[in-house]
Amino acid sequence: MREWTRDERYRVLQSPDEIRDLYDRIRTSRYRQTYHVQPVTGLSSDPNGFALHKGVWHLCYQWCPWGAVHGLKYWYHVTTTDLIHWKNEGIGLAPDCFWDNRGTHSGSAISEGDDLVFFYTGNHRDDDWVRTPYTCAAVLGDDNRPHKLPEPLFGPRDDHSEHQRDPKVVWNEEKQRYYIFIGAQTLDLRGCVLIYESEKLLEGWKFAGELKVPGFEKFGGMWECPYIVNISGKDVLIFSPQYTKLPGRGNSTNHNVYMIGKMDYDTLTFYPEGGYHYLDFGFDFYAAQGAANVGDPDKAILIGWIGLPDNHYPTEEEDWEGSMSLPRELRIKDGKLIQTPVTGIETLRGEELPSFDRLPAAFELEVTVPEGDFDLNLFTREDGEGGLRLHYDASSKVCTLDRTGMDLRFNTQVFEVLDMPLEQDLRKLRIFADHSSVEIFANDGEATFTTHLYPTEREFSYTVSEGAHLRLWPLNASVTDEFVV
Ligand code: FRU
Repeated sequence: MREWTRDERYRVLQSPDEIRDLYDRIRTSRYRQTYHVQPVTGLSSDPNGFALHKGVWHLCYQWCPWGAVHGLKYWYHVTTTDLIHWKNEGIGLAPDCFWDNRGTHSGSAISEGDDLVFFYTGNHRDDDWVRTPYTCAAVLGDDNRPHKLPEPLFGPRDDHSEHQRDPKVVWNEEKQRYYIFIGAQTLDLRGCVLIYESEKLLEGWKFAGELKVPGFEKFGGMWECPYIVNISGKDVLIFSPQYTKLPGRGNSTNHNVYMIGKMDYDTLTFYPEGGYHYLDFGFDFYAAQGAANVGDPDKAILIGWIGLPDNHYPTEEEDWEGSMSLPRELRIKDGKLIQTPVTGIETLRGEELPSFDRLPAAFELEVTVPEGDFDLNLFTREDGEGGLRLHYDASSKVCTLDRTGMDLRFNTQVFEVLDMPLEQDLRKLRIFADHSSVEIFANDGEATFTTHLYPTEREFSYTVSEGAHLRLWPLNASVTDEFVV
């Protein structure tokens, strides 16, 4: 693994020419995806500023141009009209002013009439590297680029630690005001959310209080990327608690969870109905955020980062890593989220392969699962050994995913085997693979499992239990991997 000095990681990009060679080099990698949003160069992490505005979906990702390293973060901007075909638009926000001199960190967007407004964290550090996070805003201009307000909306509170970031803005009809949820940490190092309110989007923001979540006063050391959305009359709170281990998540200390309940804006309390749930059971899913205004009160659209903070991936050797997940439709059923791949993804299907010995690099696989225990091993070697091994134990209704058999192993100290528990018997799997990622949707979205996976040249076979019915389609490319900076 390459060692980076702070100066190297935090270098400001002066001209696109500085990363053109890197782009030319990484685009020939066998692990570049063809229907997922991925970094134009370097590293992508959290999805940011995801919103539908005047018929166009805008999405940005946390971007470090220089390589596979969490250094100076930009927002890189992509757009789509169908959530399937994505276009690179270039830099959305650059760390180019006092307030964000060491990074334009995560945030959200809201479409209001003619305006698309972005809220982000300006990560300021002084010469002694002391951090001051500012909550800042930018408005999409006629040139299709966000334009920053000259001053932040507000600075940090000194009754909490320096970890105050990732503004998520929502409008509350009843209260006739906007609220900003900020991921934060108390001075005694507990994760929490700070809430601000204002009647206007770009001014008048006041601190309202710390969000209370009964039963979750001590749950992780920082709640990154809070997101709240109403689906079918229920409030869903999604966030990424860190600095803690959680059951069934190996040695990872970074997680993405959700709760369904009721947000009371009078008392600033979120009342969860039941406990928390994992948003995804896979190795690599984090910092997910949804889009506002999807035009259907029973649905939200969510995108996550395929990756985790602190983890390392084999493409670091090639100086790039990370990608966005497929957009997912969220609905609520029986007190849980149901997640399905975005409608229309089928339009990428090529001709169905009637029989196949070799898995293509980008495909959708639909599996009708027979009763009882079940095994499906993907990207095995020709003799059926190795690969990503899925075993379903019918008596406990648990799917276990094991990637220890792959040639390229990674994050071995964190986890290589994880469970995806189900409530229903496993009947159906929809699996999307794209060169270096696999997303599994079980039972029409009852549970999902997302992972990076880096099959080598000899890993292209599969084995499956008898009685299963498989349908496989290669998927066409839908993301323009163009050098736009
Ligand atoms: C989550 C996170 C955010 C922060 C951003 C910086 O992965 O740590 O809290 O804003 O990444 O890139």
